[in-house]
Amino acid sequence: MCGIVGYVGDREAQDILLGGLRRLEYRGYDSAGIVTVDVEGEPSLFRAKGKVAELEKAMKDKPDRVGIGHTRWATHGEPSEVNAHPQRVGDVYVVHNGIIENYKELKSELKAYDFKSQTDTEVLAALIDSLYQRSDVKLENAVVQALKLVRGAYGIAVISTREPGTIVAARMGSPLIVGVADDETLIASDASALVGHTDKAIYLNDGEVAVCTAGDVRMLDLASQPVSAKVETIEIDLQSMQKGGFDHYLMKEIFDQPDSLRATLNGRVIKDQDLLRLGGLNMSDDELRKVKNVFIVACGTASYAGLLASYYIERFTDDVTVRVEVASELRYRSFNVPENSIAIFVSQSGETADTLACLKEMKRRGVRCLGVVNAVGSSIAREVDGGVYVHAGAEVSVASTKAFTSQVAALLLIGLVMAQTKGLDQKTLREYIAELDVLPDEIAKTLEAKNDEAKALAEKYNHYDHAFYIGRDTTFPVALEGALKLKETSYVHVEGQPAGELKHGSIALIDDRFFMVAFVDDNWLVEKSLSNVIEVQARGGHIITVTNSDRPIDTEAVITVDTSLKLLTPLLFNVVSQLFAYYMAVARGNDVDQPRNLAKSVTVE
Ligand code: AGP
Repeated sequence: MCGIVGYVGDREAQDILLGGLRRLEYRGYDSAGIVTVDVEGEPSLFRAKGKVAELEKAMKDKPDRVGIGHTRWATHGEPSEVNAHPQRVGDVYVVHNGIIENYKELKSELKAYDFKSQTDTEVLAALIDSLYQRSDVKLENAVVQALKLVRGAYGIAVISTREPGTIVAARMGSPLIVGVADDETLIASDASALVGHTDKAIYLNDGEVAVCTAGDVRMLDLASQPVSAKVETIEIDLQSMQKGGFDHYLMKEIFDQPDSLRATLNGRVIKDQDLLRLGGLNMSDDELRKVKNVFIVACGTASYAGLLASYYIERFTDDVTVRVEVASELRYRSFNVPENSIAIFVSQSGETADTLACLKEMKRRGVRCLGVVNAVGSSIAREVDGGVYVHAGAEVSVASTKAFTSQVAALLLIGLVMAQTKGLDQKTLREYIAELDVLPDEIAKTLEAKNDEAKALAEKYNHYDHAFYIGRDTTFPVALEGALKLKETSYVHVEGQPAGELKHGSIALIDDRFFMVAFVDDNWLVEKSLSNVIEVQARGGHIITVTNSDRPIDTEAVITVDTSLKLLTPLLFNVVSQLFAYYMAVARGNDVDQPRNLAKSVTVE
């Protein structure tokens, strides 16, 4: 998700645009750019890779009074100056938030153009320019005609050097707001960029186009027919708006998961055709069929995503061994890579030094390397031979939450596509597709249903400084991830353990200093999981059981997740665990989004 700003009026545009971009920077900060146009139509375009501060350094003062700006979270094309917005073609400049799904088809028909960037936005700019060639065509008409050919989501702002007092804005699936005032008009992808300039705004609906001049807005639909504009008052607390109304990015990102997971699955899980479509692996069916060993290499939360996925991949491919390796260990260990191996590198930031080092070593050994990465164009993404972008959007909070869920889903897709080349039966495929298809809704349901319970439990347990998290099979990685989430946000000393390991030593620790979270999936291991709980309970343990079972469980606390899922329930338990960790951190007064000693991306050893 990117930030868009626009201004046309009687004040100088540059500072207004820069201020707006700074407010939107949380939405993504791979690169930024601004173009302004003077009254004669002379453009001044400035773009820079990195944060808005880098753009500011690159700019020269211009007194122009109309312009558009953008801060980017890369989707098509790596973060770079050439891929930064505004994208220019001819007299046309475009800033865009969203994904043009048919940009390749459109690009193939725009043969007269020599494209410089890897972005879908440049294709849209070229399309508009191609429809704007005749001198009697107005920019608004060229934009409307172009958008009728586009499939996908967009929020755009367009200016032209031929009509320097006009900005054309349009929305389809990506929010866009027009701020109105007496002698000026503003555009933004998020109301926070309008604060201080106006509290009156028009929230564009899908399919609407706003023709903006100084102090005036004309609204059209895609048939170029006028539509009425409803001017609303913006009630905004700037601080909260940037966090989507949440107190912290962490909670915003926890609640983002239904949408961010949909973005991961979009176009890849086609339920009504029982079809999975994964571009980008760059492996033929025959190459996938031959794979017998999969290394999954990552750090922290990403490694737990890999561990969780490994249980599923080994379950639905009967000849593949999955080896999950913590990168900081693997990079210094002498290890063998059997024949027919591939290595998958999982990373939200795509910049984790240990993971990148292992990738380089595997490449040196000639191993086929895939990436499961969130940050487009990141070092790991550029180094691998193929892979899957998880498209979870900007994850700002240091504690990784939505990326974990998307990483597991992406790894499952890779495993299922591989299993299909090995003869995966249709019934199993359909079961996983059906569960992946409803998973975003099930996560949304769990977030709504369990939020208050998690908060209440945190209020009861936040005085503890020690805890155990236990699980079996696919809930064991959830125990590890949950323990990490809690320790890194609340500073409680938490150990994640296989439930079956307690009796081999750890149970000696159980006393009133500890509480325990036990993840009990109502599957073939439920009796064994419950006996572990009873073992601890018999020794006075303070236990919170997180389960989908309706069996009688009389631990100190029970959070029951109500779901139709049978296979992917651990991902719902993980959502409960995220909520609990969040409220524990808040209750303990910690810096929830930037916990002590941590960084969002560990680019050092
Ligand atoms: C997770 O909450 C932590 N912030 C940390 O463990 C993180 O998962 C790890 O550093 C890996 O980061 P990456 O996914 O960007 O490679």
